[in-house]
Amino acid sequence: MSWRVTAPGRVNLIGEHTDYNGLPVLPIAIDRDIRVDFQIVDDPVVRLDNPSARFAPFAFQLKRPIEAADQGDWSNYVRAAARGLLEHGVPLERGIEGTVTGSVPIASGLSSSSALVVASALALLKANGVTLPRLQLAALMARAERFVGLEGGGMDQAACLHGVERHALRIEFDPLRVTPVRVPEGWRWVVASSLVRAEKSAGARDAYNERARQCRDALEEVRDAVGVERTPSQESSYRGLVSAGDLDGLLRVARRILAPVLFLRFRHVVTEGSRVALAEQAMRDGDLHRFGDLMVRSHESLRDDYEVSTGELDAIVEVALEAGAAGARLTGAGFGGCAVALCDDSTVARVMAALAARFYEPRLGRPPTGDMMFAPKASVRARVERLGD
Ligand code: GLA
Repeated sequence: MSWRVTAPGRVNLIGEHTDYNGLPVLPIAIDRDIRVDFQIVDDPVVRLDNPSARFAPFAFQLKRPIEAADQGDWSNYVRAAARGLLEHGVPLERGIEGTVTGSVPIASGLSSSSALVVASALALLKANGVTLPRLQLAALMARAERFVGLEGGGMDQAACLHGVERHALRIEFDPLRVTPVRVPEGWRWVVASSLVRAEKSAGARDAYNERARQCRDALEEVRDAVGVERTPSQESSYRGLVSAGDLDGLLRVARRILAPVLFLRFRHVVTEGSRVALAEQAMRDGDLHRFGDLMVRSHESLRDDYEVSTGELDAIVEVALEAGAAGARLTGAGFGGCAVALCDDSTVARVMAALAARFYEPRLGRPPTGDMMFAPKASVRARVERLGD
C-alpha cells in the first residue's frame, strides 16, 4: 500500500523574527508543498530518494542516537523529525521507503525545510500507527528542527500543520496557539525571489543565531531595568513587556541602557510584535492599505534595525510599491530569499509585470520562472492520504 504526505510551505505576511522571542506571527500556508510518496516497511529504517540529482538518496536506521549527516545534507531534516519523535518517546518500529518531490522553492524563506520535517514526521507517525495532536506535533518539530543548527522559532512548523484555505494564521507561542483569520476577498499576494539563496543550514544560520542571542541579551538587560518579574520561559517575557502597553516608555529605557546594536534589535522585536496585532485588525476590517502600510514599516524595521535585508530585497519592495502594491516586505529570515507584496485583483498583474521588467530582466536577461515569482493562495494544512496498493 502506498501513501502520500503533502506538507505546504508558508509565506509570512508580518511578524518577522518575533516567534523565537515569544511574540506572534501572521503567515499563510501556501499552495506549494513538499510531497513524500512512501511505503511502510517492517524494518526501522528510512530510505528516501529524490528525482533531482541535487539530492542524493539516503538511508538511516530509526535507532537512537540518530547522527547528523554532513552540514547542508538534506537528509538532516528527515533525521531531525525522526530524532524528535524518538526523543519524545514515540516508538518507531516500522520505517518508510519512498520519494520526495516538492514545489516549494528551496532556500527561499518559504519553509521548504520545515515542510520536509513535518512531512517526514507525519509519514513516520502513519507508518507506526501513532497520532499526535497537531499543536503538540508542531511544537515538537520546531524543537526537533533545531538539530540542523538554527535556533528557529515555531512559526514554520505550526503554519504547515494548521493551514486553512483563504485564511491567514495568527500563531502565538508559549503555549502554541493558532487562530485562522479570514483573508478578505480580492486580496492577492505576490512572492518574488531575490535570487539570493538563504540557506538555513549555511551562512544565514550564523547571522540568524546571532540575532537570537542579541534578543536574549537585550531582553535580559531591559527586564532587569524595568523590574519585570522573571518568568519560567525567558522568551515569553517580550510578551510581558509589550503587553504592559507603554511602548514609547519601554523604548526610552531600552535606548538608555542598551548598547546601540542591542537597542536596534530590541526595537525591531517590540515594534514588530505590536504591528502583528494591528495587521490582524486591519485584515479583519478588510483595510488593504492599513495592512500594506504595516508591511512597509515591518520591512523598514527589518532593514534598518534588524539588518537582515539585502539590496535585492529592498529593490523588490521598491518596485512593487511603485507599481501599486499596497505593501511589500521581505518574508522569512531574510539574508536573501523572497519578498512578499500585498496587491488586489486590479494591481496584481501590474506589480508582477513591473517586477519582471525592472527586477528580473535586467538581472537574468529573461523573464522570471514561475518559481521565482508567483501569486500564492492561502492553502490547507499538511495531510496524509492513501495512494492505493
Ligand atoms: C525562519 C525561522 C522561523 C522564523 C523566521 C523569521 O524562517 O525558521 O522560525 O524565526 O525565520 O521570522
